[in-house]
Amino acid sequence: MVKLARDEREMLDGIQGPAKQRAMEILVQYADALGAERFIDTNNVHLLIGFHPYPEVVTVRDADELVSKFLLDSEDKIVVDNVKTFNTTHIFATDLERWQLMGAPESLHKLMEAIRKYCIRTGISLMATCTPYQVGNIPTKGEHCAWTESSAVPFCNAVLGARTNTEAAHSAFPIALTGKVPLSGFHLDENRLGDHLVRVEIDVNSVMEWYLLGYYAGEMSQLAVPVIDLRHGMVPNISMLKGFNAAGASSGGIMMYHVVAVTPEAPTLEAAFGHKRIKETLTYGQAERRQTYEALNSAKDPTVDLINIGCPHYSLEELREVTRLLEGKRVHESVTLWIWTAHQLKALADRNGYTDIILRAGGQLMTDSCPLNTNLFPRGTKVVATDSAKHAHYAPAIAGVAVWFGSMKECIEAAITGKWRGELK
Ligand code: F3S
Repeated sequence: MVKLARDEREMLDGIQGPAKQRAMEILVQYADALGAERFIDTNNVHLLIGFHPYPEVVTVRDADELVSKFLLDSEDKIVVDNVKTFNTTHIFATDLERWQLMGAPESLHKLMEAIRKYCIRTGISLMATCTPYQVGNIPTKGEHCAWTESSAVPFCNAVLGARTNTEAAHSAFPIALTGKVPLSGFHLDENRLGDHLVRVEIDVNSVMEWYLLGYYAGEMSQLAVPVIDLRHGMVPNISMLKGFNAAGASSGGIMMYHVVAVTPEAPTLEAAFGHKRIKETLTYGQAERRQTYEALNSAKDPTVDLINIGCPHYSLEELREVTRLLEGKRVHESVTLWIWTAHQLKALADRNGYTDIILRAGGQLMTDSCPLNTNLFPRGTKVVATDSAKHAHYAPAIAGVAVWFGSMKECIEAAITGKWRGELK
């Protein structure tokens, strides 16, 4: 049984109100299931609240009822005044402004509006992105957090050196109400050390190459902690690591990893493994790269219907790059081009003229959401091209579409010509 501190006992006994009491009841069960001995304090939660409504939602009348039912597992309406922690929101089911472009029904838009107002009322910082670390939620090394979103979790752990497990919507909300997270998993030093060694024998120097490496590492490591040993001198940028995280969390369940001499807890190979012995040594070379590329490309027909890029949401650097590729060009009349980013970055794109260039070319710069989340694809979409291994992994199963995976440049060429001509060089 998890041991409770005085303030935790008070919350459980209802002294701090019904919302915290219900949250603490859930967290005690959660901590016991994880085998945690105690809770630790957190002041950084990335919540999933603007989620895809379950069928039962049609009977729900307002956001308080929705949150009570789905995030506090209560048939009684529990009204929350204020969440305790600093927290940000993962994506919503729709773009909050361009919901009609997604083909979302008005009922879903109204529900998202109700949740948006709920966030403002309760002190939840409305971020609506899968990349909170790109737009202002940047925890420090060692900081205990509670994040949802599989691609963001390894960024928090491995790239920033902060500490989180992959929280579900149903655990993150009670944590936000109480500021308490079970001490388990990646909050503990021991579990952060490496398990597998991945020796990289080829150059990995573009976002696409990091997606491929991440997809391979995820598949081979599953929930273990891989240690990536690059050829001398290679230093990935943020977009590359973002791609690695998203891919590794899709093909496997990577939540923590190390890149020797790059990520903060692995200044050396020895530091990455600590006292642990290496369980397995893997080699990533041309053969593994090609196999991974082929596994991600499920399409046969070169005629594309949708180009979906920005999964995870594009950084400002990526928005600048895609704008350069699109400038003065025109998207093919039978193709839809969706580019996804955080709305905070769209504001910068607007200011820098990027949005105008995308719109003039016939594309759309979309925010707050993504089609995989709600399965809202343009009507009749059969073939999708993307530069995201995560999108390529999930779209066939979720939407029944075939997918081409390649670089941003290949995706934009397909948007303009209507045909996929990408290849592994
Ligand atoms: Fe983000 Fe949606 Fe991709 S949540 S990581 S854009 S699947």
